[in-house]
Amino acid sequence: MNIYKSIIRPLLFTIDPERAHELALGMITKLKLAYPLFHSGYSPVNNDPVKIGPLTFRNRLGLAAGFDKNGTAIEFWDALGFSHVEVGTVTPLPQPGNELPRIFRLPKDSALINRLGFNNRGADAVRTNILKARKKVSNDFVIGVNIGKNKSTPVEDAVKDYTTCFEKMYDAADYFTVNVSSPNTPGLWQLQDEEHLAELLSKISALNNSISSQKQVRNKDIFLKIAPDINDETLHSIFNICTANEITGIIATNTTIGRTGLQTVIDQQGGLSGKPVFGKSNEVLGKLNELRKASSHKTPELIGVGGVFTKSDYKEKLRLGASLVQVYTGFVYEGPGMIKELLNS
Ligand SMILES: Cc1cc2nc3c(=O)[nH]c(=O)nc-3n(C[C@H](O)[C@H](O)[C@H](O)COP(=O)(O)O)c2cc1C
Repeated sequence: MNIYKSIIRPLLFTIDPERAHELALGMITKLKLAYPLFHSGYSPVNNDPVKIGPLTFRNRLGLAAGFDKNGTAIEFWDALGFSHVEVGTVTPLPQPGNELPRIFRLPKDSALINRLGFNNRGADAVRTNILKARKKVSNDFVIGVNIGKNKSTPVEDAVKDYTTCFEKMYDAADYFTVNVSSPNTPGLWQLQDEEHLAELLSKISALNNSISSQKQVRNKDIFLKIAPDINDETLHSIFNICTANEITGIIATNTTIGRTGLQTVIDQQGGLSGKPVFGKSNEVLGKLNELRKASSHKTPELIGVGGVFTKSDYKEKLRLGASLVQVYTGFVYEGPGMIKELLNS
């Protein structure tokens, strides 16, 4: 019997989605003594390590950004058998995010809409949480940090917010994801434009080089997370800028602002995730893969995210060129049983 789907999910789905999420995270952090049980119950048997840049991931599945925004349950994601968790999005200063309610379930569509707006405890607090967790997690568990800008920071000054997060969290993160694709922070998407993105990524790369040579350590891996709602021209320019700046990977994709094909009648702003974004994310992933194949340079690796629920969804992302796959909404609907389901052969 799948306890999550038959008991836990029906209970959680009776309460407001954000409260349910917080309740679940709160319970998880209180169950630390039971983590070995979760490990034996849910962790995959077949690990198939993959190297991305200098980092080795013990398997190809990770928990996507936004699930553990503050890094409060990192040990649990390790125990469940994910290869990595992407903490955040983290901003330099703590911020409350948008007004409630701001997450909506669309069960008929196996989807969510959210307009959280980067609610998080800020770089200093999240750094402390990660450093604390580092002492407890397995050596081969990768902790990424997804960074963004505060709502109050104008787009013209956005670079400073990213570099501040990068510097503050340097020793906490195994890799960084530069998030320019959340639809819920005004102006953020503009950072995907050629001029803005080139400046942002070159400044972060330069900072990466200077900190690593100062500390005499290797560079951090940097990923860029992009939206599914971009045209081919923008995608092409993003790919070229990432290649020129030796960005380690491109994460495709964040949530969509599109609403096509929904069965649910709902009029709520925000990013749509889950099954309805699968096709769109795959389209972007596939196009990036074509660009990789056509290039003679060292190009970014691809990380596929969006609408993964089943083993065949997972395999499709790999087929389209993803080296890693991340899940969020599928994990809400399917629960921890999906990890073995996707990874065991
Ligand atoms: C409630 C919620 C909050 C999210 N928060 C973030 C975030 O803070 N940063 C980010 O990069 N992506 C965030 N995402 C996007 C997910 O990481 C993922 O890219 C997207 O939901 C598509 O994957 P999925 O269909 O598996 O959910 C969030 C998604 C959801 C549903």
